[in-house]
Amino acid sequence: MSNQAWLERSFAAVWHPCTQMKRHERLPIVPIASADGVWLTDFDGKRYLDGVSSWWVNLFGHGHPRIKQAVREQLDRLEHVMLAGFTHRPVVELSERLAKLSGLGHAFYGSDGASATEIALKMSFHYWKNVGRPQKSRFVSLENSYHGETVGALAVTDVPLFSSTYAELLKPGLRAPSPDARQAGPGESAADVALRSIRSMENLMAKHGGEIAAVIVEPLVQGAAGMAMYDPVYLTELRRLCDRYEVHLIADEIAVGFGRTGSFFAYQQAGVTPDFLCLSKGITGGFLPLSCVLTRDEIYQAFYHDDVARGFLHSHSYTGNALACAAALAVLDIFEDENVLEANRLNAADYTERMRPLASRSEIRHFRHQGMIWAFDVETKRSDFALAYFSAMLKRGCLLRPIGKTVYFMPPYTLKPEEMDWLVAASGDALDEVLAGTSAGGDATPLP
Ligand SMILES: Cc1ncc(COP(=O)(O)O)c(C=O)c1O
Repeated sequence: MSNQAWLERSFAAVWHPCTQMKRHERLPIVPIASADGVWLTDFDGKRYLDGVSSWWVNLFGHGHPRIKQAVREQLDRLEHVMLAGFTHRPVVELSERLAKLSGLGHAFYGSDGASATEIALKMSFHYWKNVGRPQKSRFVSLENSYHGETVGALAVTDVPLFSSTYAELLKPGLRAPSPDARQAGPGESAADVALRSIRSMENLMAKHGGEIAAVIVEPLVQGAAGMAMYDPVYLTELRRLCDRYEVHLIADEIAVGFGRTGSFFAYQQAGVTPDFLCLSKGITGGFLPLSCVLTRDEIYQAFYHDDVARGFLHSHSYTGNALACAAALAVLDIFEDENVLEANRLNAADYTERMRPLASRSEIRHFRHQGMIWAFDVETKRSDFALAYFSAMLKRGCLLRPIGKTVYFMPPYTLKPEEMDWLVAASGDALDEVLAGTSAGGDATPLP
């Protein structure tokens, strides 16, 4: 069956995520038939370089043989068993290994990133009740934060396009300024901006610390804010404030964990440990939905009691799915056996150089880079820039989804130098087309 036939059937039957479906009257859905490495292939045989790792989930390319093999082997033994009252090898081994990597003793599982956010928020809130301090019930998040779109997660997400419609459903939280390094004034460094933001956080905590259960942050890179990057000193100082005001620190590493920012976990660059760590996306290398919240043993112990209601009575049917855990174990094996962080470090330095021709263009502002993420802002009056650029890149055989006027690259770690050169050339070419105003753009609604 051709692309056209699949896209018509999809349009008629599937409600696609994060999409005004009417837009697809003009912007065709792309049906993908297969994928291999960094390439996706449609039903007409056209290839697309997956420049955003399929919404940031893919680490080692599509169809990685080791992950595939691990899932296959697990499939022959046990596909799934409920985790309440039962356990299995992959979930035990994964929990042990994640505890060793993070220094956080117990692992609680969900299926998607947003469910991890919900779990961390609920656990923190419940912890304070269990220790006799129920007044500590509010959450602090950063301006432009994104932590998912279920009702609890949306309350700590600061993207009005996603949240304002549901305002009446959301528990009002506290917001602190983002440490986004792009706010640096003349002569100011990223660290100066971070310290300026932390002073606002300190004021907030001094005023409301007694009511605050937790602060939730995306360590080092606020992804959905348009890859807003910030100095690690922010996290170092935030940890200090959280200790001083007895507030939990929730590190949402759903997007930035598993080596994306250069270290295995982003918070490690600040020399701190959070109280809760949310993981998802890259955890299975992009193969299967899985999320996980790790927490300190002392927090776990506050739930350990004869009273059932003091326990964490949260569950999802697929909690700790054996196939997903097997995929995650294969991901950890790859990190261990193939020196991934060091290879990424060398590749990232090389790729940043290869990007210079793009980065030095006069329309580009704030070219930035952290680990295996690159981003820049485009100076243009086109309100439909994101959609126009997405379309222009798709035409050239590349999947990039700008956020507003920010273009970012977040490719699988296995991208080859020649593929990066191709990506840079295609991106520049698409930029020429879009800035000349010849792309079939469409309406001005941002492409999330
Ligand atoms: C930092 C962060 N937290 C949470 C989420 C939500 O994850 P999911 O889309 O799997 O629910 C995302 C998704 O992009 C994210 O980037």
